[in-house]
Amino acid sequence: MGKTYQEVHSKTPFEPHVLLFPIPFQGPVNCFLKLAELLCVSGIHVTFLNNNHIHGPLLRHTQVLSRFSRYPNFRFETIPDGLEHENPVSGDRFQEVMDAIDVVTKPLFREMIVSGSLSRRSKRPVTVMIVDGVFSFAAEVGFETSTPVLSFETISPCCLWTSYFHLHNLIEVGHLPFKGNDLDEPIKIVVGTEHVLRKRDLAEFCRKKNLSDPEIQRTLKEAKTIPRTQGLILNTFEELDGLILSHMRKLCPNIYTIGPLHSLHEARLIPNKSPKTSFSNSIWKEDQTCLSWLDKFPSKTVVYVSIGSMATLTFDQMLEVWHGLVNSNKPFLWVRRPGSITCENNESIVPNELLEYSQKMGCIIDWAPQEDVLAHRAIGGFLTHSGWNSTLESIVQGIPMICRPFYVDQLVNSRFVGEVWKAGIDVKDTCDRLIIEKAVRDIMDVKRDVFTQTTNTWANLAKESISETGSSSISLSRLIDDIRVMTSTMK
Ligand code: UDX
Repeated sequence: MGKTYQEVHSKTPFEPHVLLFPIPFQGPVNCFLKLAELLCVSGIHVTFLNNNHIHGPLLRHTQVLSRFSRYPNFRFETIPDGLEHENPVSGDRFQEVMDAIDVVTKPLFREMIVSGSLSRRSKRPVTVMIVDGVFSFAAEVGFETSTPVLSFETISPCCLWTSYFHLHNLIEVGHLPFKGNDLDEPIKIVVGTEHVLRKRDLAEFCRKKNLSDPEIQRTLKEAKTIPRTQGLILNTFEELDGLILSHMRKLCPNIYTIGPLHSLHEARLIPNKSPKTSFSNSIWKEDQTCLSWLDKFPSKTVVYVSIGSMATLTFDQMLEVWHGLVNSNKPFLWVRRPGSITCENNESIVPNELLEYSQKMGCIIDWAPQEDVLAHRAIGGFLTHSGWNSTLESIVQGIPMICRPFYVDQLVNSRFVGEVWKAGIDVKDTCDRLIIEKAVRDIMDVKRDVFTQTTNTWANLAKESISETGSSSISLSRLIDDIRVMTSTMK
């Protein structure tokens, strides 16, 4: 192995310089950019390494370049990933992205760090790496070059705990691969969630028949690698995930809970009157007109519908959701991301009643300024795919959720929303028009008061956690202090 930049420049005192490296999807890139900005304002040098195919859309639809130009201590770097286009990719092509990263990005990344070329370009050595939990290969390069590594998991702690850290136990005791068809069978071996979890609530890859599936193998590796890093950064707050965190700390003693990250970021960085759009990290163009559309409606009367940045619906599934919404007789704002409806999208077979109702009472757009939408007084419920960012954004605003999860952590999140946090209704695996209609009526009318009481409690706890003396603020300060300490002890 050649000498690292650190070894060559070992006489110069190091300044903290963090390399941030997210997996190239909307949710994680969004979280990493928010963390990057929080580190920048604390005076830490940051290099943000983005995969090519997501960097293009990010620059096209946001003002990140001008926003970050105010920080002389921030740089973007990009790394090829072998994907020949510059468009965001849906979740059904997740494995394709991971394969391309494995073949193209992994060796380039190693070369970049081991040869010191990245440190040379930024004229200072990387002193700490904060890498996406799924990028085990990046953590390995940190171990190899004696660069301190912190894992940042942007998925939910409840999924990380139940379906990642316990995956090998689930296999060992014979829960996986699933035998028989009873998805309601309880899963009792995950400490802290004994009375909550059923087979159907585990991450979706647990339903795979073949244990040599690349997703299972990658997750097993991820679960082994994270505890070897010097710390684990999580987008949650102590009060929300207290039970799980206490157990997780036995495996990963150094956990930084810095969530809800979007709120912490907003509290520290977005001055009161500045437009939120200039802080957007959206990789699709946000349609701001939906906010004035919402202005027309009374408080808490509109249902917001979104399946996030990766999930897709077949045309028939979309029709079921549509019928359910229309039959519930509530106004709705529905994000239909380009490419999110698969199979024939033939408007001519959409029943007239749906089109007519939607013209009067609906607003259908490509992409929303979601944080602003959820903060709008007209929103009373969120029909969501239960992505972790969406879940936290809803919790912060005290909006009850109808959870229609698809994959990764979403199946676990929806169970926790329904059973643990009592912040909504989980309709996983049963999502036809009748179920949707009933869930909308329950959230918006029948059980509104019960849900509001609970969701307001969580919203208040979230706000406390990001206050100056709150748990997440303290955790962020500790993270920044630790980055300085790790830097100062580097040889
Ligand atoms: C992916 C996985 O699907 C999810 O399970 C995991 O928790 C994180 O990575 P994604 O589909 O991107 O998530 O969902 P989510 O985590 O909810 O993030 C979506 C982000 O896009 C949110 O921050 C949301 O505010 C934003 N968004 C979504 C918009 O800005 N506009 C929209 O119209 C929809």
